[in-house]
Amino acid sequence: MKIIVTGGAGFIGCHLSRKLVEEGNEVLVIDALHPYYSKKRKIDQLTYIGEAGTFRYEEKNLLDDEEEVQKIFLEFQADCVVHLAALPGVSYSLEAPGQYVDYDVKATVNVLKFSGESNVKHVLYASSSSVYGEQANEPLSEDMAAGKVISPYAAAKYGAEAFCHAFASMYQYDMTILRFFTVYGPWGRPDMAITKFIERILNGEEITVFGNRTSRDYTYIDDIIEGISAAIQKARGTNIINLGSSMPVSIEDLLAALAKHFPEMKIQQAGFRQGDVTSTWADTTKAKELLDYRAKVPFEEGLARTVKWAVDYYGKE
Ligand SMILES: NC(=O)c1ccc[n+]([C@@H]2O[C@H](COP(=O)([O-])OP(=O)(O)OC[C@H]3O[C@@H](n4cnc5c(N)ncnc54)[C@H](O)[C@@H]3O)[C@@H](O)[C@H]2O)c1
Repeated sequence: MKIIVTGGAGFIGCHLSRKLVEEGNEVLVIDALHPYYSKKRKIDQLTYIGEAGTFRYEEKNLLDDEEEVQKIFLEFQADCVVHLAALPGVSYSLEAPGQYVDYDVKATVNVLKFSGESNVKHVLYASSSSVYGEQANEPLSEDMAAGKVISPYAAAKYGAEAFCHAFASMYQYDMTILRFFTVYGPWGRPDMAITKFIERILNGEEITVFGNRTSRDYTYIDDIIEGISAAIQKARGTNIINLGSSMPVSIEDLLAALAKHFPEMKIQQAGFRQGDVTSTWADTTKAKELLDYRAKVPFEEGLARTVKWAVDYYGKE
């Protein structure tokens, strides 16, 4: 299959692209190496994909290089597009909300339009559990998002979902909106809790914990990649599908699990951060029904693999 992965040099993108290359697909990665986090890290992530085999890479910005990207889409004639490129992160979206309109909404509109113009059959969009906003601590099913979000990042993701529906209707391609729940693992994004905590501990620094009694449906990267692969193969028509582990972990349990690896770690407690929801918990019934998806990696196992990766990676720096 010919597949375009936007944001392929990112955390989720490098794992997905590597798997697609391993499976023998013709993969085209489009990524601008945005400085939201280190360019070196993104180049290392591209190298990680390349270890699996050959793939095409275009260093282009979906916004600034609009015309060139449009030409690349028309020339490549992909069967399927997985649109992962975005400016991520809830906190930064409170500082720079306008950038999220550009990077998470306008860039998505370009991808949806270029996909339609180049006769792509299936577009998959990376949405987020943040679209559910602040809700009771219970499993969140896909119909429970009503636009009542609490951060500009989540607003942009919810808005982009609406554009996905509009363009699927205009161009009649299959449209799969995947709502990922807090993804962690090797190459984990350096601004996210687990990676940030481990990096700081390895540097002998204190970790800062925001709020208490919060919980996240931490989902191991391999499970997310299995879910995206299954969606590429099996999802038809227009669907919104949660991809999570359905096993939320409280911040207290996360810290206890980390302390088993790093008994000497030091914690500084801070207040709740604006924009962060208290809890997330995925209802994955639909993913089971449509994709035969089941998260397989237990949290302690996923954390152990992540710690091992971080010790190897940061140890070499
Ligand atoms: N990691 C998670 O827990 C999580 C949870 C929910 C949703 N998501 C979504 O999944 C997707 C991937 O997330 P990630 O954690 O891998 O983030 P990431 O930042 O590691 O990857 C995103 C990539 O997109 C690229 N990019 C951004 N804007 C671009 C543009 N205009 N043109 C070209 N490239 C651009 C960046 O350079 C980066 O490499 C994002 O859409 C994110 O919102 C992630």
